[in-house]
Parts: sequence; structure tokens; C-alpha cells
Amino acid sequence: MNKPEGTASNIQSTLAENRLFPPPAEFAGKARIDSKRLTELRAEAEKDFVSFWAKLAREELNWKQPFSVTLDDSKAPNYRWFSDGKINVSYNCIDRHLATHGDKPAIIFEGEPGDVATLTYKQLHAEVCKLANGLKSLGVVKGDRVVIYLPMIAQAVIAMQACARIGATHSVVFGGFSAQSLRDRIEGASAKLLITADGGTRGAHVVELKKAVDEALAGGCKCIESVVVYKRTGKPIEWTRGRDVWWHELTEKASATCEPEWVDAEHPLFMLYTSGSTGKPKGIQHSSGGYLLGAHVTSKWVFDLHDADVFWCTADVGWITGHTYIAYGPLSNGATIVMYEGGPMTPDPGRFWKICQDHGVTIFYTAPTAIRALAKMGEQIPKRYDLSKLRLLGSVGEPINPEAWMWYHRVIGKEKLPIVDTWWQTETGAILMSPLPGATATKPGSCTQPLPGIFAEIVDEAGNLIQGNDAGGYLVITRPWPSMLRTVYGDNERYLSTYWSQFGDPLTARAEKRPLLYVAGDSAHRDKDGYYWILGRMDDVLKVAGHRLGTAEVESALVAHPRVAEAAVVGRPHEIKGEGIVAFVICKGERPTGKEAEALSRELREFVSKSMGPIAKPDEIRFTDALPKTRSGKIMRRLLRSVAKDEEITQDVSTLENPGIVDQLRGRA
Ligand code: PRX
Repeated sequence: MNKPEGTASNIQSTLAENRLFPPPAEFAGKARIDSKRLTELRAEAEKDFVSFWAKLAREELNWKQPFSVTLDDSKAPNYRWFSDGKINVSYNCIDRHLATHGDKPAIIFEGEPGDVATLTYKQLHAEVCKLANGLKSLGVVKGDRVVIYLPMIAQAVIAMQACARIGATHSVVFGGFSAQSLRDRIEGASAKLLITADGGTRGAHVVELKKAVDEALAGGCKCIESVVVYKRTGKPIEWTRGRDVWWHELTEKASATCEPEWVDAEHPLFMLYTSGSTGKPKGIQHSSGGYLLGAHVTSKWVFDLHDADVFWCTADVGWITGHTYIAYGPLSNGATIVMYEGGPMTPDPGRFWKICQDHGVTIFYTAPTAIRALAKMGEQIPKRYDLSKLRLLGSVGEPINPEAWMWYHRVIGKEKLPIVDTWWQTETGAILMSPLPGATATKPGSCTQPLPGIFAEIVDEAGNLIQGNDAGGYLVITRPWPSMLRTVYGDNERYLSTYWSQFGDPLTARAEKRPLLYVAGDSAHRDKDGYYWILGRMDDVLKVAGHRLGTAEVESALVAHPRVAEAAVVGRPHEIKGEGIVAFVICKGERPTGKEAEALSRELREFVSKSMGPIAKPDEIRFTDALPKTRSGKIMRRLLRSVAKDEEITQDVSTLENPGIVDQLRGRA
């Protein structure tokens, strides 16, 4: 992992930020957690964090068999929570609400073309059970892996819940990922079955999911026995007899009841691939009981869910946010959620606000990249819509710059609504740091403080805790929490080395009874009030429009092109996306120039987009004869970042193997 770098300007801007917004009195008066309650919860957790979580798990979740062991740390950092308890996640998200909330809408779905469908909890229960029975009839049993590759339609949640119901472990692959990424993830999970659709609509285009599935499965992925296809667009698709099954045919005669499979709390509910420093994404594996507890309580506390709320999280189910705050957390609380299939600009940039108005959204949770893009369209657009039902706003996925925060506050929040800036990760399963809207005063750009039961610290490069406030360094979590990842699927060594080994061997620390530190990979600053400011990733991970991408992944996609000999990829600040991708490429043969360079640049950008998906498409390709390397052969990424930004080079280039290359990289030679 790199030293904290490139963050000086962020530190400057966040340190200069001293506006404070106390929770609105009206909100605080009705909130589930006010500041008194927050203080009590913190004190309880501080006193005994294990009992704190045990009490919540007993009070908030329904167990088939109660647990007697709360935390088993004998194999730390492979922690086990509630390990002798038996539970079913789908039962907790659906069945337990049927008696009191059976006719309450669970999902309000809006398609990009404008079609709307509402599913009550009773209807959701029936749909989930039918699909669960259908999956069973295709031979799926507890422990099997199922890949879900669907658009943002209600069926994505139905599919996840159906897997949870029968104890199958799902792996959702983002619908914007390419056939190749899909194939890697299917093979990585040795999945038995795949659930997809004939297509979806996004940005007024049809996304041909089934075509990508056929391509992914062609000549490989022998593990997949069946492909269940939901008919969404009705457009013609290729069909493989004996393998492909229509969702509606599979479910039409299936029973609308299905006894949940009671699984151990540690049973893997899902895995979700995410990018890291190496070229190969990791399958982050989550549990059932601990994960659900994190999803449930954070939905309740951070979003202050009340019975009348209509909660809309705009994330895609292909990301962790869509898992925790669409498919599981709000449903576990018996809430009504909105799901929207399409893009924010279709047919015009008022779409999000129209959806809020039409469905009476009360809680709106989105990403800074969307806020910046919508802010750019001007404030007269949201003003055309009735947003009076909104009572809480949220942000997630990347640092929100104070300007975007203020726009959100002023234009959407009418200077009255609290904003929760929630920090967490695919690995953490649920929000770890966030204001509680009825209790915490907010500062634009800060995720404020850890939630009760979460213990965050800042450490220096040697892993020493930095005491007191006004501290900067590596963000670590010092005690385990129930919704934490359990391992990297099929690669526990990678789990240990990526998250636990930065400051020494975790197994030695365990043997010596020293605390183990979970290294989040972010750098952070804690200000004089103890508020945390996330400054960005310290590893080679980019955040492009809130999506996590490894530079090494983009580099290996580039070198797969026959003209490319070597490539180095860095991030560059981007007004809307937060970060954009710049690639420095060495070609086989002559370095292309002029028209040839333009054509090859276009071709390479498309090539990456095709092999990884459009989110990975570089903004710019620069051809070069060499990359700046130290004498030991390490690429100087920091230098490349400065070059990509067209900044003055302040780094010491005297250690460069080839100092003359800098001018060429900058387009001056
Ligand atoms: O760098 C942090 C950033 O997103 C990373 C996690 O990415 P991912 O696993 O894709 O999960 C995103 C959704 C939870 C973190 O390491 N990040 C996430 N939320 C915030 C954030 N950075 C600053 N502020 C946030 N609220």
C-alpha cells in the first residue's frame, strides 16, 4: 500500500470547512435516535461491545434457533458471529412482516420507459417463494452458488431473496459489466445457475444481457447447468435448449409457499466481487446473521426508518449499496422501497426528482457523482417538482465535496433536511460511519463519527494509534463487527494479507493477544471535534463515478490488445465522476503519432469498454516510448498522476531510470 499521498489539497479544503449544521429540531423530536439515545448506545457499546451486539441481534432479528455464542474470535481475523444460531434472511425480510404489513407496498418499481409496478409484502412473498421453488426444481440446493445478472428491476431483489430463502449463495454481477467480467465471476464462484433477463433499458438503450450471457458461456463455464431468463424487453434473443428456461414458465405452476431453509448464522448469504490492488477482483464473502444485523440496524438508525417512509436508494443491485440498502436492510425493517431501472438523465435530467414526486419518496440516498451531475444541470430543474415529502437525504460511495454537499442541502433539502454522508465498503457490509440524522450535527464533506458498536482509529505508517484529535493517516477498525466480510471466496490468504497484515502478521497478533487492525485502505483525517474526513484510497484503487476499479485491472485489459506492450493507468480528478482514467501506453513497434494515434486511442478506449464494461473506459490514452520507472523497476505512479493532471512536477525525478521521458509523457517531446 502506498504512503498517504496526493491528499494534501483535500486536507487543506476539509480543514478549511467549518460550517456546522445541527440536526433540525423538528426532525430530532421524532427521530428514532436522538442525541440522548445516541450517547446511551455509545456508552453501552463502549462498556461491552459483544453484549451490545448480542442484545441487538436478539431484539431485532427472528431466529429459528437462538445463539449462545455471540463472538467466536478463536480463529481471528476469521471472526464468527452468532455461530450456533439458525436464521433465514428471507424470512426476516418478508415473512415476519406478513401478519402486520402484508398489504403494505414492499417494492414500487419504475421502469425507464415509465411502467410502474407495485409489489406488496404478500405479493413479494409469493414471487420469492415461486422462484425459490423453481430454483429447487432445477436442482439448486443449500450452498450452491447462483449468479444474478439482471437489470435494476424488482426481479433482481426477488432473485436475491429466493436464493436467501433456500440457502443458495448469490453472486450478483453488475449489468454494466462485460461478458468477460461475467465469465470470470461465474467461474470464480463455480456457479450452478445463472439468472438473467432478455435485456433492460438504460439511457434509452437496450442493454443486451442475454447476449452477454451467451458470449460468457460460449465454450466455457461448464459449471452452469441452467440459465433462467426473465422477459423484460420482449426483444428476440438466442435460446439454448436444455439450458435456458423462461422465468415465467419456471414459476407459473410453482407453489407460492416455500419453507425457508434455516441456515447457520455464518452460512454465506452472498459473495460480491470488488476491485483491489491486483488485476484480479476478489469475491467478498458475507454471512447471513451478522450481515443481516448490520443491514437492519443501520437502515433503522441512519435512515431513521418509520412506517410511512418511502425509501429510495438509487444504487444498482450490482454493488454492495444495492444489496444492503435495497435488497435487505429496508425490507428487514418492513419499509417501502422504490427501485428505478434507468438512467438519471432519461428522458431528461428531471427524472430523479419526478420519481421522488410521483412516488412520494421521503428518504433519498444517492452518490456524489449523481449529485454533481444533476447540480450541473441547474437548480431550476428540481424546482419544477414537488419534493415536499422528502425528509432525509443521504450520500455514499466516495467523498462528497463540500460544494456538492451544499447544493444538495440548499436545493434539494431546502436548507431544512438532514444529510447523512455514509462511509462504508463492500467489505464492511453496512454503514460504519455516518451522522445519525436526529442526533449528529453535520459538517459538509465529513462522514462524522463511527456508529455505536464500531471502533475506528487512525494509525501512522507503523500502525501506531494516533492519539487525540486533529490526526491524519490510515483508517483502521479496531474491533470486529457483525456485518464484516468473512473471507475472500476461495482465498483466505488474500483475506489475511489484504485487510489484516499491513502492520504485522495477524496470526502472531492473535497468539499474543494483541488487537487486530482491519485496514480499510482509505486515508482519513480526524478533526479537532473527533469528526472523520475520508481523503481517498491509499491503494491502487480508483473511484470512477463511485465505482471501484483497480488500476491493475484496466492495465491488464489494455495489454490484452495486440498493439499494446505495456500500460500504466492512473486516476485524474474529474468534475462529475470524481475520478477519470488516464492510461499511458507503450505500443509494440513504433509509437503512433497524429491521426494514427487518434485512431488507436479510440480503438483502445473501446477495447477496454468492451472487455470490462463502459465504466472502465479511459478518458484519455497517451502513447509513450517508456514509462517512468525507478532504478528498481517500479512505475512512478505519483509522477504519472501529476503528468495526467498537467501539474508542475514537484517530485524528485533524480531516481528515475529514464528522466528524459517526462517531457514525452507531457506531450512536449
Ligand atoms: O474510499 C471509500 C469510498 O468507497 C470505498 C468503498 O468502495 P465500495 O466497496 O465500492 O463501496 C462503496 C459503497 C459503500 C471506500 O473505501 N467511500 C465510500 N463511502 C464513502 C467513501 N469515501 C468517502 N465518503 C463516503 N461516504
